[in-house]
Amino acid sequence: MRPIAGREELDLFSRLPYVLNEELADDLAQGHRRPEWMWVALLGNRLLARAAWWSRVGSDTPFNLDILDVDDSLSAAERVKIGVRLLHTAMSATVPGGSPPPEYSRFIPPDWRDKAATRSVVEDRMAIVEHVGARLFVERLRLEWRPRTPIPEPSGRLAFRPPRDRAELPALMTQALDGTLDAHSRRDLTRMSAAAAATRHYEDELARYTSPRDWWRIAVLPDGEPVGFVVPAHNGYNAIIAYLAVLPRHRGHGYIDDILAEGTRVLAEQDVSRVRASTDLGNLPMANAFRRAGYVNFGREIKMAWS
Ligand SMILES: CC(C)(COP(=O)(O)OP(=O)(O)OC[C@H]1O[C@@H](n2cnc3c(N)ncnc32)[C@H](O)[C@@H]1OP(=O)(O)O)[C@@H](O)C(=O)NCCC(=O)NCCS
Repeated sequence: MRPIAGREELDLFSRLPYVLNEELADDLAQGHRRPEWMWVALLGNRLLARAAWWSRVGSDTPFNLDILDVDDSLSAAERVKIGVRLLHTAMSATVPGGSPPPEYSRFIPPDWRDKAATRSVVEDRMAIVEHVGARLFVERLRLEWRPRTPIPEPSGRLAFRPPRDRAELPALMTQALDGTLDAHSRRDLTRMSAAAAATRHYEDELARYTSPRDWWRIAVLPDGEPVGFVVPAHNGYNAIIAYLAVLPRHRGHGYIDDILAEGTRVLAEQDVSRVRASTDLGNLPMANAFRRAGYVNFGREIKMAWS
């Protein structure tokens, strides 16, 4: 068990199939991945298992564990045993002590529970991560808008403008946390104030996107009162709806449809090849809004966390 030596071992690392394989070369070149964060378990020349972490460019600590694979032709017991040994070894070398390890993320088919084959692939990996101390935290829907999908016309109830200043969006995000159904937000609220959670989300994610901030939109009523917001962005891989919300006192009037349509329109005007988004399985109002807006649910993601 060892990390790969460098890009020259990407072919070896990619012998096990997964949707992220095609991004690995670019990720290494850009600094999202490092050879020392990409581990293999080998028997002679045979790749039995692999694990890898992704990070933001410039960060010295991994952001998430997003690749964990075992050779699915091994016996069930061997798959888990070898996976656990590799993950243990790799985590001791890769993850700094003192704070919880970064979350595990796995992209899975939308119907993964219905077919025995996809189910065992996912459950093996979950069993491995559980043996190393994590628990299922949330299952998310992965969504995609495709060009030529009609974007709902504005209802005319709301107008849209960019944030007035640097403080306006974090302030509205703070209000939007009240009553949220999003699992990560709810966990943040058990650990810190709404203002601190919103500021962290803003600073650590939204403010880091290098796409233009004049894509961001505040939704307002005719008298100027803010109702919600949408943050369209590009994350280096895809155009995305990074975040959107309706303020608590305005929920239940379907404003989310106008806000999501506006965010999608901003990105569609950039001639993007698709718009990606995701939301928790349990965030039903949001999942329904994506469906009404023509987003296709092309996959799911499970997230497992160490507490
Ligand atoms: C998800 C969200 C944008 C929905 O906005 P909305 O404009 O209220 O959506 P809708 O008008 O379509 O509401 C549909 C139904 O869900 C209910 N609902 C909406 N948000 C709800 C919430 N957070 N908790 C419980 N019920 C909610 C509405 O009351 C409404 O019920 P009704 O049909 O019985 O009246 C809003 O809840 C929100 O801002 N949440 C926090 C941020 C968030 O989760 N953003 C998405 C991240 S991916």
